[in-house]
Amino acid sequence: MGTTDISILAIESSCDETSASIIVNGKVLNNIVATQSVHEKYGGVVPELASRAHQENLIPVVHEALSGAGISKNDLSAIAVTRGPGLMGSLLVGVSFAKALAKTLNLPLIDVNHMQAHVLAHFIEEPRPNFPFICLTVSGGHTQLVWVRDHLDMEVIGETQDDAVGEAFDKTAKLLGLPYPGGPLLDRYAKQGNPKAFAFPITRMPGLNYSFSGIKTAVLYFLRDRLEENPNFITENLPDLCASIQHTLVEMLLIKLKEAMKQVGVTEVAIAGGVSANSGLRSALADLAQRKGWKLYVPEFEYCTDNAAMIAMAAHYKYLRKDFVGYDLVPLAKLKL
Ligand code: KG4
Ligand code: ZN
Repeated sequence: MGTTDISILAIESSCDETSASIIVNGKVLNNIVATQSVHEKYGGVVPELASRAHQENLIPVVHEALSGAGISKNDLSAIAVTRGPGLMGSLLVGVSFAKALAKTLNLPLIDVNHMQAHVLAHFIEEPRPNFPFICLTVSGGHTQLVWVRDHLDMEVIGETQDDAVGEAFDKTAKLLGLPYPGGPLLDRYAKQGNPKAFAFPITRMPGLNYSFSGIKTAVLYFLRDRLEENPNFITENLPDLCASIQHTLVEMLLIKLKEAMKQVGVTEVAIAGGVSANSGLRSALADLAQRKGWKLYVPEFEYCTDNAAMIAMAAHYKYLRKDFVGYDLVPLAKLKL
């Protein structure tokens, strides 16, 4: 490792994935992720259990990232960590560790905004989007339309006012009796179903904002009425129910995306976050992009879900600007982009 190399260790612990990544001169060398299965039986992330699991996983994950990349901690140029948004207890584990390590090694500390990092996941590998573009960030915790003008210059122009779209997938899947997290399973059943079999209401919010809490209630009442008539209604119609719910959620996402593209006047669009794995969203967006003449960017799934490689990518750009923070850094659960 030469003395002019920029080598950064990045840490992500905002929700339920403990992750570490090494980036050297802007190239991500690895992305170690410890997924916490402890939450499955509770049907959602339990914050207290997440913090404890981060506490257990963090040092092994960091060791694996360093040794896998063949880098000693003495070769590092900086330590980067997710400051927020996320669960306070989870963030505290990563931030406290990163601060202590940076201070011990006398290295600069870089704080990263998790939502900015989701967008910058598109710069880990080719093809990289051209500025300006719109990024639709969709996960279990977030639903945002981001106008991206440069690596570190972005603005949220629309976002959910209540549930995230991933939550809507998971909560409706739960109503259908699917285990947590139900989003990927709902997607799988949807492939065999008719998306027009059942109609659920589309919630229209002012401007470019979203609301996904209504569909959960709509599905709940719809199922309650149908189950009264036929107790086997769900099992007999599972693929059609999944396809129809997915169709409604994707439609809601795309209506505002189209408006955002028009309003900002751009032709490049990217998707980020765990829900960008959804096959219905991918195919509907690919069709739309083709019809509109947009260029569409979808990162590898590894970089869509929560990961430290995206934190490392963001940290690299901040390092180039010498954008460092003090060792008194505190996490912020509601950090804005
Ligand atoms: O980005 P992510 O891994 O974690 C955060 O929430 O930050 O996203 C997880 C979310 C969950 O709600 C999960 O159900 C959803 O992404 N998800 C999917 C699919 N794969 C993951 N939702 C629908 N279809 C999928 N194929
Ligand atoms: Zn995330």
